[in-house]
Amino acid sequence: MLKQEIDTPAVLVNLEQLEANIRGMQKRMNELGVNLRPHIKAHKVPEIARMQLDAGAVGITVAKLGEAEVFAENGVNDIFVAYEIVGARKLQRLLELARKVQISVGVDSIEVAQPLSEAFASAGMRCEVIIEVETGLGRCGVLPGEELLELAFQVDKLPGLKLEGIFTHEALHHLRSPEEVKKVAEGVGHVMVGAAEMLRKEGFEAEVVSVGATPARTYTCVKGVTENRPGTYVFNDRAQIGLGAATSDQCALTVLATVISRPALDRAIIDCGRKILTSDRDWFLEDFGEVVGRPDLVLERLQEEHGFIRLKEPGPDPKVGDLLEVVPNHTCVVMNQVDRVYVLKGDKVEGTWTVAARGKSR
Ligand SMILES: Cc1ncc(COP(=O)(O)O)c(C=O)c1O
Repeated sequence: MLKQEIDTPAVLVNLEQLEANIRGMQKRMNELGVNLRPHIKAHKVPEIARMQLDAGAVGITVAKLGEAEVFAENGVNDIFVAYEIVGARKLQRLLELARKVQISVGVDSIEVAQPLSEAFASAGMRCEVIIEVETGLGRCGVLPGEELLELAFQVDKLPGLKLEGIFTHEALHHLRSPEEVKKVAEGVGHVMVGAAEMLRKEGFEAEVVSVGATPARTYTCVKGVTENRPGTYVFNDRAQIGLGAATSDQCALTVLATVISRPALDRAIIDCGRKILTSDRDWFLEDFGEVVGRPDLVLERLQEEHGFIRLKEPGPDPKVGDLLEVVPNHTCVVMNQVDRVYVLKGDKVEGTWTVAARGKSR
């Protein structure tokens, strides 16, 4: 089957570019001596995780237990849940997983750590925990000084837990230039290494010093950082281009759409709206995707099932029935919108992959 024969809207994966992105990141991490533990929320596809592991990744990162369950069923045996696990039902699921595969999990408070400890200790098991450190995101995490130390001492006393180290996710999407991204990411790297050294002075091993965000490229991986968890790098997207982490050529995912209406000379409507492309838009993006090879077209508005394209120069092209390909603003969310993706080499469809962890947000 050829690309032109695919029913739209459809998510296309450029296999050769995907492979190049996976190889490139692994090579950079190998050169730095940093373990790569990619975040699979960016793709949710076991076949892609297998490619990442075969290239040299030490394991995967997930946000949700539902994702961990899908990837464990599909042969991944080392999973970091970079998320606070709260509630009895989830603790039971975590225990089930830990019986089958190597699991580590994030904690950022005694309220999260205590029930985790009780669940694992009463099952006669031990859970590896990694403390989440707040380095600017304003999300979860303890501050890298006293707060971190206090939680480390508390966790250390709890049965059923083993403190492995610390992790953070760099806050970079709000920054104004690639230079600023570099400066902030390097700063976060140094904060994390300093925090780990502080823990070691107090007798903790702090074996894992884990960072991860695609816009950071390798900047956060300063000496002393042991692990990187980027996700979006497998596909890249317009946010990454805007932040200086990728070029258009390095984008491995596009959305194929059909022009369904030409209601005016300066407007074309495509069969693809927010329900595929999502309404995500970083501050530096004025539109909702780049129409490949068509700088004259601006995807300026989305409704649920319609994309509104403005023609910079009004005219008859594109026509109803024409196919257009769009590089999305944020691929991670796009992957959660479709059941399967088409895998292409050039214009030839090599096959499809099921987005097995689609919607696994529990
Ligand atoms: C905890 C954590 N680690 C790693 C990542 C991967 O970051 P990116 O998607 O920028 O590659 C994310 C992304 O949200 C995250 O939340």
